[in-house]
Amino acid sequence: MKKRFFPILLAMLFSQAMSGGNVKSPDGNIELKFSVDGKGRPTYEMTYKGRPVLKPSHLGLELAKDKHASRGMNETDLMEGFVVKGEQTSEQDETWQPVWGETRTIRNHYRELAVTLEQTTKIAEYKGDGTNLGLALVPHVRTIIIRFRVYDDGIGLRYEFPQQKDLNYFLIKEEHTEFAMAGDHTAWWLPGDYDTQEQETQESRLSEIRGRFNKAVNWGNSSVAVFSPTGVQTSLQMKSQDGLYINIHEAACADYATMHLELVDAETKALTTKLDGTSNAYTPAPKPSPYPLPAPFTFVSHLTPDATGLKGAMQTPCQTPWRTVMVSDDARDMLASNLILNLNEPCALDDVSWIHPTKYCGVWWEMIVGKSNWHYTDDFPSIQLDNIDWQAVKPHGRHAANNEKVKRYIDFAAKNGLQEVLVEGWNVGWEDWANMWKRDVFDFVTPYPDFDIKMLNDYAHQKGVKLLMHHETSSSTQNYERHMEQAFQLMNKYGYDAVKTGYVGDIIPRGDHHYSQSMNNHYLHVVKEAAKHHIMVNAHEATRPTGLCRTYPNLVGNESARGTEYEAFGGSRPDHTCILPFTRLQGGPMDYTPGIFETQLKSWSNNTSWARITIAGSLALYLTMYSPLQMAADLPEHYERYDDAFQFIRDVACDWDDSRYLEAEPGDYITVARKAKGTDNWFVGGKCDEQGHKVNLRLDFLDKGRKYACAIYADAKDAHYETNPKAYTISRRTVKQGDVLKLTEAPGGGFAVSLMAIGK
Ligand code: NOJ
Ligand code: CA
Repeated sequence: MKKRFFPILLAMLFSQAMSGGNVKSPDGNIELKFSVDGKGRPTYEMTYKGRPVLKPSHLGLELAKDKHASRGMNETDLMEGFVVKGEQTSEQDETWQPVWGETRTIRNHYRELAVTLEQTTKIAEYKGDGTNLGLALVPHVRTIIIRFRVYDDGIGLRYEFPQQKDLNYFLIKEEHTEFAMAGDHTAWWLPGDYDTQEQETQESRLSEIRGRFNKAVNWGNSSVAVFSPTGVQTSLQMKSQDGLYINIHEAACADYATMHLELVDAETKALTTKLDGTSNAYTPAPKPSPYPLPAPFTFVSHLTPDATGLKGAMQTPCQTPWRTVMVSDDARDMLASNLILNLNEPCALDDVSWIHPTKYCGVWWEMIVGKSNWHYTDDFPSIQLDNIDWQAVKPHGRHAANNEKVKRYIDFAAKNGLQEVLVEGWNVGWEDWANMWKRDVFDFVTPYPDFDIKMLNDYAHQKGVKLLMHHETSSSTQNYERHMEQAFQLMNKYGYDAVKTGYVGDIIPRGDHHYSQSMNNHYLHVVKEAAKHHIMVNAHEATRPTGLCRTYPNLVGNESARGTEYEAFGGSRPDHTCILPFTRLQGGPMDYTPGIFETQLKSWSNNTSWARITIAGSLALYLTMYSPLQMAADLPEHYERYDDAFQFIRDVACDWDDSRYLEAEPGDYITVARKAKGTDNWFVGGKCDEQGHKVNLRLDFLDKGRKYACAIYADAKDAHYETNPKAYTISRRTVKQGDVLKLTEAPGGGFAVSLMAIGK
């Protein structure tokens, strides 16, 4: 018999019944209401102190029907036709201890509403014994659970898909989680992009996103794929005109694609219109959704596709990540929130004794500014790793990762109490590493001839320092997965306990994107494999974090935003670091690589770019940009020139018992006090934008009756990030609880204070 496909007849059974429940946060300020509308679409809304945060917003998933005939043809969307089968409420109040973090303990206190929803569809199926085929309408019953957790500082919601007869495997075409905003808020946004997060943040009203979109794209990045003129990334920070701070992000994104948001505005005709000029021409054009457009100012989730254009391949039982909406009328609460960590699973590692917060320096900045190189020779038009006798090639003489220079950095680290030294460009293959879509780009085990891996590790260990490994994958992920085990064994052999990975350029396998489900699986696979070797991971250009570092605390850092390197690529606005803690840092720490003292790069290299920050402002970043991994990124000789200011970097901790956000306003200023882990010492940092800022720093957080040796690193009176960045003052005094320090931050500047407890 000839095989034929017959059109499938679907009949949805819509429930006319309205049903739903509501739940309040433990302090009663946030209220979440759930209902199912007349078409059976799950709907939720959210208020804060009686004010609207989310107007009624739909929930649902559109499934692929055209890819896998065996299952997809029978597929119906999980969008409508649902009836409520059960609702469960519960409350949780527990306290847990992170392996490293901003505070020693974290309270996880929420109220939960879990709604069980059932959708019945009648699907035409062939019935019979093979000779007597006939079409019959067969009911398919599918159950999903939507779980809401309501905290004092926001909510999380996720979809859960229990294993069941009529829902085993499914392909996601798009998730349609809506966030209907109550007004034309101010937003701090990045253009939605499947491959990069290295743009400067735009500050605008929601209604202005479309008009500013094209200018906001980082077209110069080595991998760009924008999808809609109103697409934005999360974490998205907003402020309503009446002073509510609202933040949308996600938590625990594992085995799922990273979520973007697409704003419906007055001009939206259909969701996801493929942008003209998208530089990654390999993304299949998205198909517009058949569902009605929500009202203007509604964000709708938009997942990152893989090379097929689809958004997810799922097998039940499974769930989506949590979609998070944080809210407060006080900006400091946005920074102090632990909502995203709390929504992640507890630590999955039995032994965490080998994980340690780390201050490091590295053979890095001088290559970024172009003074020296990662690669070793200019002799070849291209490199085939197996065909080159590296001992015999002619070096070009500017290779940075050489024995002499690395020893100099090790000496500097040992002298100044920095635990590790990153060395980039140590391994063969950098001659044609980027943007070639080259599969076998590195082997991660063969050093260049002038990098003696054994001697240098021995030298470092004798001095109490470790080398920090570097694995640039050039986004050739299969190549990395093939070599990873050997590469980690090499690290174990020589005593490395941390690796910085990198994903520059378009992904290989070709057509895939940095933030797809398959790539998110790759990044997590690397973290889990590294854990088996007791290796900490700091991944650059990987997907934006969503708190997975709670479950896998060896994920000590990510870049996933515009880092300090951009100060050498034309610069970043001075307010950049006053925005990142509200956005990028919500999901986890950033390896921002602060600490640039010689901000005018042309004073010591051919690079005409300059860092838009004062020295005192650079010191502040060690507090305001929380990370258990902190780099002193400038050159040793630059730090030696300003050794009195470098004292703060020597002293500052990178793991904390307590943190108090004293002042904050997105894009303007942040002041935070932190108590160093296991000590009575406090450190305070304040960072501001190009406007400058005055602070009356009340030392209320100090222990009563205790005296502290206080060192204040401040901008000098005439300091300015552009004209006078190196003008700072250092003053010392003894202080106690209740004292007030009057501090002035210069434009683009900041301050840093150390408070060392004296005696008992
Ligand atoms: C980009 C990373 O962000 C940077 O830190 C690194 O030096 C280069 N890639 C080379 O891997
Ligand atoms: Ca500002």
